[in-house]
Amino acid sequence: MAVAGSLALLATACGSGDDGNSSSGGSSAGSLDGRGPITLASGKDTSGNLQNQLNAWNAAHPNEKVELKELPEDADAQRQQMVQNAQAQSDSYSVLVMDVVWTSEFAANQWITQIPEDKVPDLGKLLPATVETAKYRDKLYAVPMTSDGGLLYYRNDLLAQAGVNQAPKTWDEMKAACTKVLALPAAKGMSCYSGQFEKYEGLTVNFSEAVNSAGGEIVGKDGKPNVNTPEAKAGLEELVNDFKTGVIPKAAITYKEEESRRAFQDGKLVFLRNWPYVYALANKTDGSSKVAGKFAVAPLPGKTGAGVSSLGGHDYAISSFAKNKATAIDFINFMASEERQKANVEKTSQAPTWASLYDDAGLNKQFPYLAPLKASIQNAQPRPRVVKYGDVTAAIQQAAYDSLSGKTQPDQALSDLQTKLQSLITQ
Ligand code: GLC
Repeated sequence: MAVAGSLALLATACGSGDDGNSSSGGSSAGSLDGRGPITLASGKDTSGNLQNQLNAWNAAHPNEKVELKELPEDADAQRQQMVQNAQAQSDSYSVLVMDVVWTSEFAANQWITQIPEDKVPDLGKLLPATVETAKYRDKLYAVPMTSDGGLLYYRNDLLAQAGVNQAPKTWDEMKAACTKVLALPAAKGMSCYSGQFEKYEGLTVNFSEAVNSAGGEIVGKDGKPNVNTPEAKAGLEELVNDFKTGVIPKAAITYKEEESRRAFQDGKLVFLRNWPYVYALANKTDGSSKVAGKFAVAPLPGKTGAGVSSLGGHDYAISSFAKNKATAIDFINFMASEERQKANVEKTSQAPTWASLYDDAGLNKQFPYLAPLKASIQNAQPRPRVVKYGDVTAAIQQAAYDSLSGKTQPDQALSDLQTKLQSLITQ
């Protein structure tokens, strides 16, 4: 039954644009055998702590060492390399650090191994939304490692100087705060706001958040695309107008996470939408950040009230073509343990998946972003959970980018996007 099901999915996944032909190799039912050296394929480690974590494993497992295979920083480029590797049925990646949005595609194509739930203790102790990201058709294909929720970073020093005593809850409040802050001599040359608007996965995130935060949706509860609506238009138009009026600086059309983080750290932005990893880096006192101790974190603003984040994060999966899968699952359990996740939060401010860590009094005192982060993750909207995710996100990126760069009117872009998504997402 599993075979018939996955063959049907395979057929759907084939010919889906950039995916090319799908591989039919690999085993879907987890036979996790074999011990020895493994590799970890991961996007560029912007947190700076991954190798430390791997060293801890390697010190305790000299015959089963893990070697880091570092992939590009941009999520789409990482996916591309992992897809190519799977299509070649290569065993060079053992454990894959997968963006939460790729699970359906990789599982349906049998590129990753199904993991029996009794091999990974404590799923019940993780934030439920993170566990969902690791499943495909109710079966577990990965283990949640880090979550992610969008946060609004803001210069509380400048807001206070301008007499603004609260973080904005709406887009209008944010812009009103900027008008006051940007009038200060200390804010000379600064811009109001940025997120990530380069044409890549981060744009899908920022577009989705704008749409969701204006009361719209990309895919409805019935699983059908529903993006040609007044609410979605209001979300997209907010971004388009913010570019036009200079609320968002022009350069932001080239920003991914890191470029936007640097702009904020260099003191060029009053407000920044970014993930929690920025908290630790922007607070560094080694001279790399001009804003250490000068910013705070709040939930994302929305059109008429609190905004809605896209659910981000990463899960660890085992390549179907890997050797030494018994070592791979032990390594994953090691990395996913509460102890390792706590050590990682302390160093990197990445979002843990263990619910208990958000309620840890010591951590909350040290890291005041944990409370808004938990709220952000709990209210977050998942991006479409579809086998053709690569094509779906490419269509979203195109529509958003064309609108932001003034090539297409938002109305037209959304109606074209609706048509495209309808052809890609068939129930
Ligand atoms: C972060 C998120 C991930 C998202 C990516 C977009 O890495 O964790 O889910 O797709 O940013 O750039």
